[in-house]
Amino acid sequence: MSGAAEIDAGGWRAGDYARNARFVAELATDLIDWLAPAPGETILDLGCGDGALTERIAAAGADMVGVDGSASMVAAARERGLTAVVADARALGAVAALDRAFDAVFSNAALHWMHDDPQAVIEHVFARLKPGGRFVAEMGASGNVAPIRAVLRAEADARGHEPDTLDPWYFPTETAYLDRLATAGFHIERSHTFERPTQLPGDIADWLTTLARPFVTAFAHGAARDAYVAAVRERLAGEMRHRDGQWVAPYVRLRFIARKPD
Ligand code: BEZ
Repeated sequence: MSGAAEIDAGGWRAGDYARNARFVAELATDLIDWLAPAPGETILDLGCGDGALTERIAAAGADMVGVDGSASMVAAARERGLTAVVADARALGAVAALDRAFDAVFSNAALHWMHDDPQAVIEHVFARLKPGGRFVAEMGASGNVAPIRAVLRAEADARGHEPDTLDPWYFPTETAYLDRLATAGFHIERSHTFERPTQLPGDIADWLTTLARPFVTAFAHGAARDAYVAAVRERLAGEMRHRDGQWVAPYVRLRFIARKPD
């Protein structure tokens, strides 16, 4: 077994993620063009996961620090030789390794997991930036994976679970998120919302058990969980499984560059 923690308290397994969700980093490669990292810059990767994109930015000569709430993911990032720490995005300044000012904060496919207090996350990012520093990110936007979310919620509800207590995602409209950034003091330089239908590497059941864990793990491991996943899969097949057997998920992304004033 690898040195990476196999599973952590949040339910993340870096191994499952690498198998079933590698596309998340692959599809955001051009987000690095938005970041335009320069050699010698210090950059914080917020929600670095297993460090796949962090590593690519480091290859441009930037001095990277990854941060993630998952110990399993941070262990996997460290196995790539990266500096990475486990921390809550709502308390970045409390972590010694992060108590410095960065040229940029980068984030891919992580901000939508930080649903408890998105404004606090933005304010912590602002505080970690040098004057003139930039926050460059991509996240799920309003409507992201909407049919999947609707069916996960409906099938959980039908089995006696209150969907709001399980639903882990915050997919804001562009206007709502840019308002939050402006409230924190950022100037918005560029933003874009776009649909990105995404071919999954395997069956939707793998996506569900890897990326919708807060719903799936509400059901006891075994028959109850299998029945839930099967019911969700069955209801989504008509809309998402193509004739060739490939599953395509309706991703909707928000990207932005926001700058802290000088
Ligand atoms: C996303 O990157 O949009 C996403 C990832 C996992 C679950 C839901 C959405």
